[in-house]
Amino acid sequence: MRPKRFGKSDDGLKGLKVVILAFFLHGIIACEKELPISQGYSHITDSVEVYGDPSRGLDVYRTQLDHNGRACMHCHLSPEGSDIVRFGQLDVHSQDSIVVFRALEHVPKQEAYDIAAYLKSLPIQAQGNVAVGEILGITNNGSDPISVWDGTTSLTISEIESWNFKSGMRYSFSSPKWFEGDETNLLPNENLDWLPELDLFSEKGGEVATTYATYVQSPTKENLKSVLLAGHEALSEGERHPGEHGYFDFNRAFDFQRWLATLYIQHVIDPGSDLEFGEEISGYAVKDFSLPDGIWDAGNVARRSQDNGRTPNDEIDNRLLN
Ligand code: HEC
Repeated sequence: MRPKRFGKSDDGLKGLKVVILAFFLHGIIACEKELPISQGYSHITDSVEVYGDPSRGLDVYRTQLDHNGRACMHCHLSPEGSDIVRFGQLDVHSQDSIVVFRALEHVPKQEAYDIAAYLKSLPIQAQGNVAVGEILGITNNGSDPISVWDGTTSLTISEIESWNFKSGMRYSFSSPKWFEGDETNLLPNENLDWLPELDLFSEKGGEVATTYATYVQSPTKENLKSVLLAGHEALSEGERHPGEHGYFDFNRAFDFQRWLATLYIQHVIDPGSDLEFGEEISGYAVKDFSLPDGIWDAGNVARRSQDNGRTPNDEIDNRLLN
């Protein structure tokens, strides 16, 4: 059965009344104060099932522009929105609620519900908002260094080769997560996540926009390469190396790299990915450009912000810890 829809001329109030009615029908006592959108998240999940249309959600996610001319995908970058499910909350109830709540910053209520219903229909295992090292599985995958060499003998080549340096390491900082902070976007640590606050293809247009459109239609590693390469080439010397060439907007340069890094990582971790982490493919000179460049360059920009005179706020300080 086709899900019920919010009214077309919905001025907010009408839709909210329908939601209240739905709560009563579900035997939940609701008053205006307890409406899902204004108060917490706990009840939205029921209404997503009732009002959201999963068959419209993907199109809205990809194409419906917000007041700044951007669709969800422009910032979130995964062509199907799978990262939102994967790194959103483990609990499906809070997932629906957070999606609707966040989407409302960008699209009307009906579309917010459609996106949530669509995301809910994806066959993707949620795994919570883990640190990037954990996503890529690069921690705790070998033996503890002390079990290979206790420091009392000279190291042999075979000991060195069997020593997985990443295992057993303890860090005094936390790695960036996919999402960080809360839904207000006001916390001082917002730069400890991977999602950029701006998108490269709106900023640069041209080849970046063309190749990105092709990638969305057909997200293969070759098409990914074309976008990353176009993105890299669209950046000026100063944007790539802020603090030099008369360019000092570190935050902007940082976000450009975050965009490239996120585009890359969401492709690698997609369940059906055709690209291994760190794998290079043909068609470019690795000494000038490498597919995962964005990942390291986001950190490089943060370091440059410290070394080359930074803007007077704490935006990139957090990332220097990583
Ligand atoms: C201008 C860029 C931009 C656009 C457009 C955008 N988002 Fe986001 N979104 C972000 C950033 C950055 C974060 C992470 C930082 C934060 O939590 O504030 C985020 C976080 C989220 C989260 C939080 C996940 C969690 O577990 O905390 C959800 C859900 C979400 N966005 C959904 C959407 C949907 C749905 C749309 C479209 C209707 C959308 N966003 C449009 C940039 C954007």
